[in-house]
Amino acid sequence: MHNTILITGGAGFIGSHVVRLFVNNYPHYQIINLDALTYAGNLENLKDIKDKPNYKFVKGDITDESFIDELFATHQFDGVIHLAAESHVDRSIMDPLAFIRTNVMGTAVLLNAARKYWKDNYEGKLFYHVSTDEVYGSLGAEGFFTEETAYDPRSPYSASKASSDHFVNAYYHTYHLPVVISNCSNNYGSNHFPEKLIPLAIHNIKNNKPVPVYGKGENVRDWLFVEDHARAIDTIFHKGRVGETYNIGGFNEWKNIDLINLLCMIMDKKLQRAPGTSAKLITFVKDRAGHDLRYAIDATKLNKELGWAPSLQFEEGLEKTVDWYLANEEWLEHVTSGAYQDYYSEQYQKR
Ligand code: NAD
Ligand code: DAU
Repeated sequence: MHNTILITGGAGFIGSHVVRLFVNNYPHYQIINLDALTYAGNLENLKDIKDKPNYKFVKGDITDESFIDELFATHQFDGVIHLAAESHVDRSIMDPLAFIRTNVMGTAVLLNAARKYWKDNYEGKLFYHVSTDEVYGSLGAEGFFTEETAYDPRSPYSASKASSDHFVNAYYHTYHLPVVISNCSNNYGSNHFPEKLIPLAIHNIKNNKPVPVYGKGENVRDWLFVEDHARAIDTIFHKGRVGETYNIGGFNEWKNIDLINLLCMIMDKKLQRAPGTSAKLITFVKDRAGHDLRYAIDATKLNKELGWAPSLQFEEGLEKTVDWYLANEEWLEHVTSGAYQDYYSEQYQKR
């Protein structure tokens, strides 16, 4: 029974939802949240559970080998759920090496520590690597990514995640380290950093700023509510077969422009603006370099084998998300002050 669990990247968007779910649902587990608190990590995301007796936060960097070794020696983890990563494609185009450092090197450091500290007894241990559907590349108009789809990463971000997946599988085959991997589609929900499409659009619409849509807005993403992803991670952690990969997706494909139009309608309603007001903010800008056309996940394996399915319809999830952002202006103000402004100018000023 995985009793002491290391969750990496638990102060980030998805990680904070996973930490909350584990801390609340498993009071007999000890949850250690390790996070470097980069621009994307925010302890405000976890203020509701910070004083729970089964929760502890540790600040640290997954690429720091001696620190990670010491952490494993101190806590004797039974399980690792690894989410810490550089996660934004546009930033990976600006600064690829940061992605190689954290996503590749950091994952290898964690795998190596697990191998060293578990080597005498792999019984009841599990290293769970949280990955992305972007490792499979880009789809045309038809078809889905399955667990058998060949890897074809095309951005520095997806190449670094693909590389980390390969290291996880290499540790399974070479050292028999008990591992499991999941590859998930685009998440949305509360605490999502406003560099990603949905929270950025909500923030800009609220402030009457242009909503930048790359290219013609024709690219397609498969959106999943973040709490459904956290539930899938819980299911796979407890019931998944060692050595396996599970795809997680929302069965919910949207062209970016259609999604933004839906969001504009919701925002008009919530902000009591005349219908069509927010859509006037939509601005087509220069496309992302190497922009993958379409992602779509076939999550049949996870559904058939472990019984997981998404719980929310997209419109309902999007409304919940908008409500959260409108009720948490302070959170948005904190994360968009300072360094966010520099990133925003660099990313959007010349587009
Ligand atoms: P995020 O950027 O919101 O959070 C990443 C967290 O990792 C932050 O708290 C950050 O401080 C921490 N971190 C970064 N570098 C670190 C380091 N060197 N050491 C320790 N901590 C570090 O990311 P997210 O969107 O929550 O994604 C979490 C994971 O899920 C990532 O591995 C990502 O690849 C994967 N994923 C994300 C999505 C999505 O739609 N967001 C979809 C599928 C998979
Ligand atoms: O598919 C899973 C992946 O989804 C995760 O692995 C990544 O961590 C996560 O960031 C996300 O990647 P995307 O690149 O798909 O997400 P993003 O929100 O950046 O962009 C979604 C789509 O919207 C994409 O087609 C690019 C487009 N876009 C994005 C931004 C930020 C715009 O049109 N305008 C924008 O300003």
